[in-house]
Amino acid sequence: MRKQIIMSNNLLKRKKGIISGALDSNSIAWKVAEKCVEQGAEIVLTNAPIAMRMGEINNLAEKTNAIIVPCDVTDNDQVLELVDKSMEHFGGKFDFMLHSIGMSLNVRKGRPYTDLKYDWTHKTYDISALSFHKMIQACYQKDAINDWGSILGLTYIAAQRVFPDYSEMSESKAILESIARNFGYHYGKKNKVRVNTISQSPTVTTAGSGVKGFDDFISYAEKMSPLGNADAEACADYCISMFSDFTKMVTMQNLFHDGGFSFTGVSNEVLR
Ligand SMILES: NC(=O)c1ccc[n+]([C@@H]2O[C@H](COP(=O)([O-])OP(=O)(O)OC[C@H]3O[C@@H](n4cnc5c(N)ncnc54)[C@H](O)[C@@H]3O)[C@@H](O)[C@H]2O)c1
Repeated sequence: MRKQIIMSNNLLKRKKGIISGALDSNSIAWKVAEKCVEQGAEIVLTNAPIAMRMGEINNLAEKTNAIIVPCDVTDNDQVLELVDKSMEHFGGKFDFMLHSIGMSLNVRKGRPYTDLKYDWTHKTYDISALSFHKMIQACYQKDAINDWGSILGLTYIAAQRVFPDYSEMSESKAILESIARNFGYHYGKKNKVRVNTISQSPTVTTAGSGVKGFDDFISYAEKMSPLGNADAEACADYCISMFSDFTKMVTMQNLFHDGGFSFTGVSNEVLR
């Protein structure tokens, strides 16, 4: 993808927010965190305690002048604590939150969709989908987000169409997108807080590469997308615009950020 230098315009000046899911420098959340701070925001980073052990997130925290609040999103008490500690750190309410969390136990352990181990599936849904509800509900109940705040989750088009190797993550993403619509209604009514999901192109990250045949698939998607695949950097730019005051009236949407893949029937490159 052609790189463009986007200068800081202080789009997030005086804004504060939570960024989950930065594991290493390939993570989409990593790029979002960097860009939030470039655009003038203050952030709190969070990830599962197990991800902390890799240690890379400390470098990001240093670079972005952020604190890290460990939180395994399968444990609701830890989610509540994440919101409390963030409010304590910010000295009050904040303005945005990114859910950038996904993991499938069956995919990771090589179990096909036609032979799922259901206790793993429950855990997959819990980590990848229900956690979005938990994070939003914690903010809603603690009145943690300023009016006109913005909440985002990251999703994939397998919620709408069949990509066989995406397996149980397809249902996770369908639930995630539904949570954005439903909570978007309630939080919009209460505090004008908007809730959306961004449906991103396949992207080379730890979570992405866990899907079988990922490299072939990335090249197929590239050929099917008139603009080419959107990379993590471009996704982060889109997140910034969604956290900014320029998108105040967008809520309850699933927003495709995929170079046109979602509406392309077939491309000449693929036919050839
Ligand atoms: N990479 C892609 O191709 C792609 C495409 C569309 C959407 N997405 C979505 O983007 C989001 C970010 O993924 P990524 O591609 O940057 O990969 P990533 O592996 O860098 O990020 C996934 C994150 O989830 C965290 N996580 C896992 N279990 C957790 C738990 N119990 N508690 C808290 N955090 C936990 C991991 O530690 C990791 O930081 C995911 O929702 C993913 O499904 C990715």
